[in-house]
This record gives sequence, structure tokens and C-alpha cells, in this order.
Amino acid sequence: MEKKYVLITGASSGFGLLTTIELAKRGFSVIATMRNEEKKEKVIELCKQFQVEKQITCLQLDVTCKKSLQHLSEHLNQFPKIDILINNAGFAFGGFCEEVSLQEYKEQFETNFFGVIAVTQAVLPFMRKQKQGKIINLSSISGKIGFPGLSPYVASKHALEGWSECLRLEVKPFGIDVALIEPGSFATNIWSSGKRIAKKANNTNSPYDLYMKAIEDQLEKGKEEMGDPKEVASLIANICEQDRLKALRYPIGKGVKLAFYLKKWFPWTKWEQLFYKKLLHKKV
Ligand SMILES: NC(=O)c1ccc[n+]([C@@H]2O[C@H](COP(=O)([O-])OP(=O)(O)OC[C@H]3O[C@@H](n4cnc5c(N)ncnc54)[C@H](OP(=O)(O)O)[C@@H]3O)[C@@H](O)[C@H]2O)c1
Repeated sequence: MEKKYVLITGASSGFGLLTTIELAKRGFSVIATMRNEEKKEKVIELCKQFQVEKQITCLQLDVTCKKSLQHLSEHLNQFPKIDILINNAGFAFGGFCEEVSLQEYKEQFETNFFGVIAVTQAVLPFMRKQKQGKIINLSSISGKIGFPGLSPYVASKHALEGWSECLRLEVKPFGIDVALIEPGSFATNIWSSGKRIAKKANNTNSPYDLYMKAIEDQLEKGKEEMGDPKEVASLIANICEQDRLKALRYPIGKGVKLAFYLKKWFPWTKWEQLFYKKLLHKKV
């Protein structure tokens, strides 16, 4: 089999790290990019445990940094081709709409949305010349459904969904397929070290304080039900192995398909009632 080259962002932890290893195990050559070069050793160490270190090339890439993106563009020529791009880097920013500053919204979009656009624009010319390629974007259940207290993240993933639909329609004639992975909750760093909260949300005088506690209770309860991130890595690797991608969206995780079904077919008033009942245990 001809060697396939995959470029992945945010390979230092979570889905990115597990996908890197899974793809290397399946014979792909992985360009594992990460913003913090100090984490490279940990990644290589783990690859050695699976005897796949020869399949991996580590590159520094902060998807929000102009210089770093420039560096990526210069380095792409050293690879014979880029068959697959996995836009995985991201983080979750929480807070209530009234309290999240514009700057905080912008920071969320810089990584989760503009970062994806920048890396895709760097890679697309190579894929177009090759007349083949796959672009796999890590969206979320939050790309289809809004949750209170998570509007920066939800908005960034909704934007990613819309942009990916446009991209898919534009690049299909060049032999390039676009896919969106839509995970529910999985046990990675995103809910701990990766999570950031609006400065104002830490204020106990916030009018949304009670609401915040209900959400935190839900998140705490939900921890036990979080999926194993290896399932997502395995799904992404399966997609990478396919010839062409018929589907645009790949939902994964407990309750995700049901939630999408209810959101699509229930009238909004019913959907809202369900939401408040589950979150605040009362009618609003
Ligand atoms: N876990 C879930 O439940 C879940 C559900 C739905 C969607 N997702 C999506 O899955 C993707 C991966 O998240 P994860 O759950 O694996 O979380 P994670 O363990 O926190 O990993 C996130 C990765 O993104 C990297 N990153 C963040 N900002 C970056 C930047 N500016 N440039 C380059 N890399 C950056 C992080 O690097 P550092 O190590 O340097 O921080 C880390 O490697 C995200 O897009 C997330 O939105 C996750």
C-alpha cells in the first residue's frame, strides 16, 4: 500500500494524541503538530511504547500564531504529499452570554474557528494539486445544539459546521472530501486543564450564579458517563482508511444521535421544556 500522510493539529493530548498513535499503528505517516514543543518528548515516548515512533514527525504549530502558520507552510514542501488533514486543536470556553467579554469570544474563535481556516488554507493547495485529499474537522454536539453557559464554544463549533458545509461543496470537484466529527462528552483534558471560564463567571454576585451551579452539578454527574476517547480516535482512523467519504457528519457518543433527532423533530417549545426539566428540575 502506498504510504499516506496525515497532518493533525493539537497532537499533544486527548483525541489528537490518541488519533496520532492509532493512525501510526495502522501504517499512516503522521505529522503530529503541537503548540508546545515541550510536550513533544511525552508524545514520542508514548509512540515508542507502541513501536510507532518512526511513523511520526513532530512539528510545532500554534494555530493562532501567524509566525507558526508561516513556518508550517514552509515545512509542508518537505513531505511528498498531504493526504489527510485533521483539524483537532481546540478548547472550551464557558460563561454566560451577558458576562463573556468580546475579547474572550474572540480568543475562542481564534483557535476553534479561524485556526481551522488558517491550517486548511495552508494545506488545500497541496491537496488540489494531488487531486485528492480528506479534511476532517473536530466539531462537537455543541456544533448542532446550544447549551447555557457555553456560548463561546457552541458559537465557534456552529461556525465550524457552517464553514465546513461550504468547504465540502467547494472542494468535492477536486477530489477532496470534508467530514465533521461530532462527539458528545469524552474524558479528555478539555473539561479540566483545557477549559476556560469568563472572568466574570467567578463572581458569586453574578445573576447567573444559581444557573452555574445547576450546570456544574450536571457536568459532575455526567463525568461518569463520559465516553472513552479511544472510540473517537478509532472512528477518525476508520474514516482515514476509507476511499471517499459519503457522509459529511459523524456523530459519536452516548445520547448524541438521540439529541440530534429530538432537536430536529421536536418543536422548539418542547425542546426547551425538556432542557429546563433536566437542568433545573422545574418548568420555566
Ligand atoms: N472531549 C470532548 O468531550 C470533546 C467533545 C466534542 C468535541 N471535542 C473537540 O475535540 C478536539 C480535541 O479536544 P480534546 O477533547 O482532545 O481536548 P484536549 O485534551 O484538551 O486537547 C486539545 C488539544 O488542542 C491543543 N490546542 C489548544 N489550543 C491550540 C492552539 N492555539 N494551537 C494548537 N493546538 C492547540 C491542545 O494543546 P496543549 O496541550 O498545548 O494545550 C491540545 O493538544 C477539540 O476541537 C474539541 O473541541 C472534544
